[in-house]
Amino acid sequence: MQLESLSWFPGHMTKTRRMIAAEIGNMDAVCEIVDARIPLSSRNPDLDELTAGKPRLVVLGHIDQADPALTARWAAWFRGAGHEVIEVDAKSGAGVKRFAPAVRSLLRDKLAAYEAKGQVGRVLRVMVLGIPNVGKSTFINKVSGRKTARAEDRPGVTRSKQWVPVDKTLELLDTPGILWPKFDDPGVGMRLAFTGAIRDEVLDVEELAMHLMAYLGAHYPAAVEARYKIRVAEGEDGWALLEKAGRARGFLISGGEVNTERMSRVLLDEFRGGKLGRFTLETPPEA
Ligand code: G4P
Repeated sequence: MQLESLSWFPGHMTKTRRMIAAEIGNMDAVCEIVDARIPLSSRNPDLDELTAGKPRLVVLGHIDQADPALTARWAAWFRGAGHEVIEVDAKSGAGVKRFAPAVRSLLRDKLAAYEAKGQVGRVLRVMVLGIPNVGKSTFINKVSGRKTARAEDRPGVTRSKQWVPVDKTLELLDTPGILWPKFDDPGVGMRLAFTGAIRDEVLDVEELAMHLMAYLGAHYPAAVEARYKIRVAEGEDGWALLEKAGRARGFLISGGEVNTERMSRVLLDEFRGGKLGRFTLETPPEA
């Protein structure tokens, strides 16, 4: 799904809060999906409060597009915060098989207590939460083997609460909880736009591209040099790199000036399309 605009948030905020409050008591655990490229910007900081301390499995999604070394550091960071973690590419399905074992590991004490009481075969229920476009539907479909659209997506079908089975004793609530990111820091909105989680139209494309280029130039200079056939000097600013890349591509307007708007769109498209490589734009906070 796509956000229509940032004004989308207030109504959904209330709806999600209500849904979570109504359902959280029925859940054994919560599954929080984050984008491994921006694990902090793609999460909702109120989750602890909203989920009332339920055991949590963090799914680091989009790992096929993220920097593998940083994905490993992020996994360790989330584990350090007491969560179970799995790393997945929900699009291809890589890693999703680890979901059920990870939930059972997270809930091992509860399962041991059930077993002690002779309650074998009790079903575990998990609520999936995440910001729009993080990959909730893709993940739910892959993990459950479901191919059909959700009931709410089909015209004329009235929704009732439905459970999606993962296996005989593990179910997901089929309405993913749509949370909202925290936009207090302008960098958050920008990083969500880099990854395509929010549309470009709400932000200036040249400003976006300039900031993305600055980050890539500082952290992944070799990838920028290889893709755009330019030299990246130490500390070179994003705008200068964008102009260099545009010139190298031959994106010129009359008078020999670089068409930076065109280069900006190309950079964002190529970044999102994985043509530059795999990048993570945030590093775990120091302990
Ligand atoms: P949502 O329910 O949380 O809103 O997100 P959704 O599953 O619709 O996923 C949003 C987009 O992200 C989809 O792409 C989806 O294919 C892609 N996606 C989700 N998880 C991953 C992942 O782990 N790796 C990669 N590479 N992509 C992922 P789309 O462009 O909207 O559609 P399409 O390209 O699948 O046609």
